[in-house]
Amino acid sequence: MTFPENFLWGAATASYQIEGAVNEGGRGPSIWDTFSHTPGKVLHGDTGDTACDHYHRLEEDLDLMAEIGLKAYRFSVAWPRIQPDGSGPANEKGLDFYRRLVDGLRQRSIEPMLTLYHWDLPQALQDRGGWTSRETAERFAEYAGVVYGALSGSVPFWITLNEPWVSAWLGHAYGIHAPGLKDPGAALSATHHLLLGHGLALERMRSMGNPGDDNQLGATLNLHPALPGRDRDADREAARRVDGQANRLYLDPLFRGEYPEDVFSHYRGLGADLSFVEDGDLDKISAPIDFLGVNYYFRHVVRDAPEESHSEVPFSDLRARPIVPHTGEKTAMGWPVDPEGLTEILVRVKEEYADVPLYVTENGRAVHDYVDPEGSVDDEERISYLDAHFRAARAAMERGADLRGYMVWSLLDNFEWAEGYSKRFGLVFVDYGTGRRVPKASSRWYSEVIGRNGLGSS
Ligand code: FCB
Repeated sequence: MTFPENFLWGAATASYQIEGAVNEGGRGPSIWDTFSHTPGKVLHGDTGDTACDHYHRLEEDLDLMAEIGLKAYRFSVAWPRIQPDGSGPANEKGLDFYRRLVDGLRQRSIEPMLTLYHWDLPQALQDRGGWTSRETAERFAEYAGVVYGALSGSVPFWITLNEPWVSAWLGHAYGIHAPGLKDPGAALSATHHLLLGHGLALERMRSMGNPGDDNQLGATLNLHPALPGRDRDADREAARRVDGQANRLYLDPLFRGEYPEDVFSHYRGLGADLSFVEDGDLDKISAPIDFLGVNYYFRHVVRDAPEESHSEVPFSDLRARPIVPHTGEKTAMGWPVDPEGLTEILVRVKEEYADVPLYVTENGRAVHDYVDPEGSVDDEERISYLDAHFRAARAAMERGADLRGYMVWSLLDNFEWAEGYSKRFGLVFVDYGTGRRVPKASSRWYSEVIGRNGLGSS
């Protein structure tokens, strides 16, 4: 099974999850520093203070990427390295780190794919309301302009936001991520200001021209098809509510310039004040993007749950409960292995929204990896997971989805947010105590896939 010529095989990471060096190079604090240092928020009290120490091991990590044969590398810029308190002129030392990264990639013929916001908001902006405040959207556009000004000549792919659903809902409704709020109204306001920030950032970057000649600007959503748990109308309705919040709340404004009325009226019914949408906002949000990044992990299988009251469980405010079937393979995150959902969601974007170029900007699984007595990490589960998902992606392409590349999550084991260091997603194992990197069996398998631009027969 082969992929089109120039298919962009890569791997992804994010700043707070790998960099460490949180007090170096003039970096200011982010909401994830605050959150991870708040007792009880992250498993074992883990923080990103040191993480994979990527900030100091940049050359070694670049060499690992080259050894695997990656054609692209998706990384994120830590906003608080560039503007330590969220506004004002650039901190040149912060930009220098990313200049070195981008130069190192290009020297190795690896295409840089840059994410501007992967959740590490400067704490100073949170102190003024964070994403529930319109000002943050404006600050984000300024920050985007600063980074674009410095790197647009050498970075072809620009992603404004990573997974606004996660920022908004895990961060503001369910309290699981920074900043840890528990207010669905705040999550809707954060959703709107994140999307507005995306629109304003696009406008800003486009006004600066296209120094790379063919720069592509887009956004990344985490999309999860939602299916009814049982063959009942009540479960079908619950799946529709979950689809509304998880998928349509982002796809509709980006591609159609409107919010799904059923989602807004549900939250109006719960007393939320939705007056934050101003005239003209949706025009900015729906300005055409050059590509959509899709992060895919699993489908939501959903039951109606009328008795569920508002709590910290995702979708409880929709009176819906996601269930994970007892049967079937699960990852170390407890997530079901469900490659068909990837085909489904890529085809849906094309058929229901737009025939836009697509990149899988994240997909991968956590495995209980360890270095065995022979010194190797034999992550067969990850190999079969990726094999199945690459095939599912190919199936979507056969059905017309314009998929152009695939970034495996993740290059390195790293700080998995509220799960701390307990969950390993890397192609490369990291021994956190020493920083030692051990490429896993999956990284060698992935090299072969990239080398032959396809998969062997299964
Ligand atoms: C996604 C995040 C990424 C990583 C994976 C497992 O939601 O974007 O940072 O944590 O999940």
